[in-house]
Amino acid sequence: MTEKHTLVIVVGSVREGRFGPVVASWTAEQAREHGGFDVDVVDLAEFEIPLTLPAVSPKFAGDAYPRPEAMAPLAARLAEADAFILVTPEYNHSYPAALKAAIDWHFTEWTAKPVAFVSYGGAAGGRHAVLHLENVLTELHAVTIRDGLAFPNYFTSWQDGRPLDPGAPGYAKTLLDQLTWWAAALGAARAATPYPA
Ligand SMILES: Cc1cc2nc3c(=O)[nH]c(=O)nc-3n(C[C@H](O)[C@H](O)[C@H](O)COP(=O)(O)O)c2cc1C
Repeated sequence: MTEKHTLVIVVGSVREGRFGPVVASWTAEQAREHGGFDVDVVDLAEFEIPLTLPAVSPKFAGDAYPRPEAMAPLAARLAEADAFILVTPEYNHSYPAALKAAIDWHFTEWTAKPVAFVSYGGAAGGRHAVLHLENVLTELHAVTIRDGLAFPNYFTSWQDGRPLDPGAPGYAKTLLDQLTWWAAALGAARAATPYPA
């Protein structure tokens, strides 16, 4: 049997009354049914993520980056990932500040790993947020996956915790197939040779 990859699904919105956990929960269900992953849902609302960063850059400090003790569980769960799905809404044509803070507190945890996106919002379905995330994650040497899921007008396109679009599970499978391929390829590459970041 093929070894499963660890997939971390990050819930990127932390505001009161958020819709994010609904989208993340459905995404996690698709990933478990897909069968290629051990799934860990990381909800940023469960962590203290300060906005004030240390003087040293995480890029240069690497594993010695001086995070507050309380951040250790978040860093450990991100480090375990072979692949990520970021579940993000769109705030003012970008993604939530909590997600940016979580990204910026880490570096090696993202490096040479695949990242896919599931977004939601108004007319654009969160695509503006994803465009910004793709740009940011390139700086961290992550590999972003082309086929994302975007849910426009989520307030009418979801019911009882599921998207109404009957094609959605098929789109999710395409995303998860691509993510599996990249998780295997990049995992083997990281194991063979340290990434020259
Ligand atoms: C500060 C803020 C800015 C927003 N800006 C946008 C936007 O630019 N585009 C959009 O489609 N929706 C926007 N929305 C609406 C969100 O898509 C909607 O509130 C969604 O529920 C947010 O996800 P959440 O409930 O998981 O936080 C915004 C919402 C907030 C709170």
